[in-house]
Amino acid sequence: MLEQLELLEKEALVALEALEDSDALDAWYKQVLGKKGTLTLMLRSVGELPREERPAFGRASNELKTKLEAAFEARAKSLRQADMVRELERGALDVTLPGRPIGPGHLHITTQTLRQIYAIFAEMGFQVYEAPEVDTDELNFGLLNMPPHHPARDMWDTFWISDEVLLRTHTSPGQIRAMREFCPEPIRVILPGKCYRYEHITARSEHQFYQVEGLAVGHGITMTDLIGTLTEFARRFYGPDRRIRIRGSYFPFTEPSIEVDMDCILCDGEGCRVCKGSGWLEIAGAGMVHPVVLQNGGYDPDEWSGFAFGPGVERPAMLKYRIDDIRLFYGNDLRFLRQF
Ligand code: FA5
Repeated sequence: MLEQLELLEKEALVALEALEDSDALDAWYKQVLGKKGTLTLMLRSVGELPREERPAFGRASNELKTKLEAAFEARAKSLRQADMVRELERGALDVTLPGRPIGPGHLHITTQTLRQIYAIFAEMGFQVYEAPEVDTDELNFGLLNMPPHHPARDMWDTFWISDEVLLRTHTSPGQIRAMREFCPEPIRVILPGKCYRYEHITARSEHQFYQVEGLAVGHGITMTDLIGTLTEFARRFYGPDRRIRIRGSYFPFTEPSIEVDMDCILCDGEGCRVCKGSGWLEIAGAGMVHPVVLQNGGYDPDEWSGFAFGPGVERPAMLKYRIDDIRLFYGNDLRFLRQF
């Protein structure tokens, strides 16, 4: 048996040396060291030898296995090297060829819309105030007049980081942050940013979208100021011919509360899947800042009043550019994005 091992070693090493390229390596390995390879089969047959010959044979075949594996690795390395040299010689690289030009990009439709909104509100005296996307339960709900277990929390189910920290469901927690920073000064800010919801995704609803909160706090601010501001915004954003509709609504952090709808440009008011057949699409919630919220922000509600509003960004853009599915915004399809 030991002679057979010697013979196997000689033959295997000669065959290995004779291989011409790395493609042939696998076949050699399979034939010699693979599960059904010659050496493996010999190793398995150790049980058939007389008992006294087994230890010497076992030792010798294990040594041979190690040796052949090392020879295989070395040969594989040199063959790969040779392959590479051959490859380089064959397809010599012309490093002087000009590269492929990278076309100029442009701003995403959401960014363009955000900038239009900033510009309109800047003209009305609102400055941009940024608040974090990851916020606390207390700011997203509690200080906005929604203590734990308040039923209105169900309208804004979200993604939780821990029991106290979440991805904000709206830009409204920024109201508290802005009030606490500016108190006791009057405020006129917009708070743009991404919001997240545990939401059923449809043509009009995403689980991640933008809002631009607006907040004005001062002396003698009334509902008329709110409606005037929103109507003026709509006129500047959509042009004079479009219609807006104001409906009574409910938010725990505003009293009274309203909802703002735009006439649906996609179906000219006939009814479609985006406006759910109503001819109108809700673009913002709004209202007079609730006295409890003013107080939480540091303002005395007997002396101060304010309004707040929270439009989305994608939905107003849909109604401006006739986009019939919100999922197109973040689908990364360049055929869609290049149109704007
Ligand atoms: C709110 O988020 C309130 N924070 C708005 C508010 C602010 C009320 C200040 C009062 C005072 P609502 O859940 O309705 O409200 O969302 C407001 C707007 O965000 C909607 O009108 C819509 O334009 C947009 N929006 C809401 N959910 C989605 C969604 N899943 N996908 C896309 N846009 C959405």
